[in-house]
Amino acid sequence: MKVFITRKIPETGLQKLKNAGLEIVEWKEKRSLTQQELIEFCKRSDALLSAGHNKIDSFFLNECKHLKVISLHSVGYDNVDIPAANALKIPIGNTPGVLNGATADVAFLLMLASSRKAFYLNEKIIKGEWNFFEPTANLGIELEGKTLGIFGLGNIGFEMAKLCIGAYKMKIIYHNRNNNLKAEKELDAEMVSFEELLHRSDVLSVHSNLSAETKGIFDKNAFAKMKTSSIFINTARGAIHNEKDLIYALKNRIIWGAGLDVTNPEPMKKDNPLLTMPTVAVLPHIGSATFETRNGMSEMAAENIIAGLNGKRIPYPVNPEIYD
Ligand code: DGY
Repeated sequence: MKVFITRKIPETGLQKLKNAGLEIVEWKEKRSLTQQELIEFCKRSDALLSAGHNKIDSFFLNECKHLKVISLHSVGYDNVDIPAANALKIPIGNTPGVLNGATADVAFLLMLASSRKAFYLNEKIIKGEWNFFEPTANLGIELEGKTLGIFGLGNIGFEMAKLCIGAYKMKIIYHNRNNNLKAEKELDAEMVSFEELLHRSDVLSVHSNLSAETKGIFDKNAFAKMKTSSIFINTARGAIHNEKDLIYALKNRIIWGAGLDVTNPEPMKKDNPLLTMPTVAVLPHIGSATFETRNGMSEMAAENIIAGLNGKRIPYPVNPEIYD
């Protein structure tokens, strides 16, 4: 049985695949595959391990309906047409849970970096611009006792909330489709409307999936309702905020700052105005990028492949309904 892997993944996952006696074909070029290239490799394979944002749409799935399993090296699956996979009964696997802590760490890091202008001030030192101390220069804002608003309070948002309570006794409010009872019980989190989330948050951190419902939801209108002292954080998917509107909101001091681990498009262009704004911190989508987490992700992705190729229920299915 042959597995096609779209990017270099950690050795621990590869080893699991090899130990299972699978033949591995890896894409090693440092560029994304075109969809046609992906289809050609998949036609010669029995399973796909997809790392990176490969478009697994209805066209791809119908061209590659022979695949016994598609395993994503991510928790997000917004690049996959799930109804089309369901129609073809192709199991889609992801890597839930393992990256919660690492991703929350990055949201927390970006919040602090924005509040204290850390990335911008570091850049000034690199440019030789650390010249003169002034008591009124380089001032930031403090987070103690402030309100953290979470858009999409699931497992990653829960970890971010725990960090913010532990560090700064922040009050947690959130907006979800359904109540998160665990967060209400353990973190005293309060569910609010989207409007209220915008109005009340001092830090608003996005942890939702990208869907038709959430695409571009943080736009000019949304930013206009936020506090002028607020910080917007997105570690989920870049398309959830409208980048032009975010730039406008920051330039016009409609909000204080932003911390982004995800942008639209990715990679971000080096002349993007966000990169020169004092209260903005941008990272290159590194939420899950720790040795521990990436090893864990590669192992989970391998487990999905092995089970799928053995005709078993995969351990981490995105579409368990195909087994009903
Ligand atoms: C995920 O797992 O979805 C992260 O964004 C890494 O791609």
